[in-house]
Amino acid sequence: MIAGVSFQLATEKDVADIHRLEEASFPAPWRREFFLSELDASGRFNLVARREERLIGYLFAMWFFDEMHVNKIAVDESERRRGIAQALMDRCIEFAIANAVRTISLEVRKSNHGAQAFYKQLEFMATYRRPRYYPDGEDAVVMTKVL
Ligand SMILES: CC(C)(COP(=O)(O)OP(=O)(O)OC[C@H]1O[C@@H](n2cnc3c(N)ncnc32)[C@H](O)[C@@H]1OP(=O)(O)O)[C@@H](O)C(=O)NCCC(=O)NCCS
Repeated sequence: MIAGVSFQLATEKDVADIHRLEEASFPAPWRREFFLSELDASGRFNLVARREERLIGYLFAMWFFDEMHVNKIAVDESERRRGIAQALMDRCIEFAIANAVRTISLEVRKSNHGAQAFYKQLEFMATYRRPRYYPDGEDAVVMTKVL
């Protein structure tokens, strides 16, 4: 529990706020339509965090049989280091365990040391690198957690 913060499954009416935070958080943001199509797709676990009415974080993940992939996680800069991302991931991991998922994976920019530290304390391991994964040519580090 984080005082004043609630967590819900993302819906279409969240997309404008999600997209605003996406643009503030990533150098190559997803387009709004991409979030909408993720909300329509099957095998997804998409969450938002709100403080009162204000959207302060989101997590978008997909799962298929025993594998889960976290596509996106971001927290508003003014709300970081308060455990919001941790709470989003805790819920994702809880969902994964309830659905017999065995591994959770994700990509993170090689230069994004803050996010890598975040994943490491959740016991994700850097498993390999995807060269030039991002549109600007930066490598991705693939990190995996075995449940
Ligand atoms: C990465 C991100 C989601 C973390 O969100 P957050 O809500 O600040 O994370 P939490 O408060 O839950 O962090 C939990 C723990 O993870 C670690 N951690 C989180 N951010 C960290 C950072 N920038 N540097 C080092 N460790 C960090 C710490 O151990 C932290 O515990 P502490 O604050 O008690 O030391 C957030 O920084 C963000 O939105 N960044 C921009 C988008 C992004 O890079 N997303 C990931 C893409 S792969």
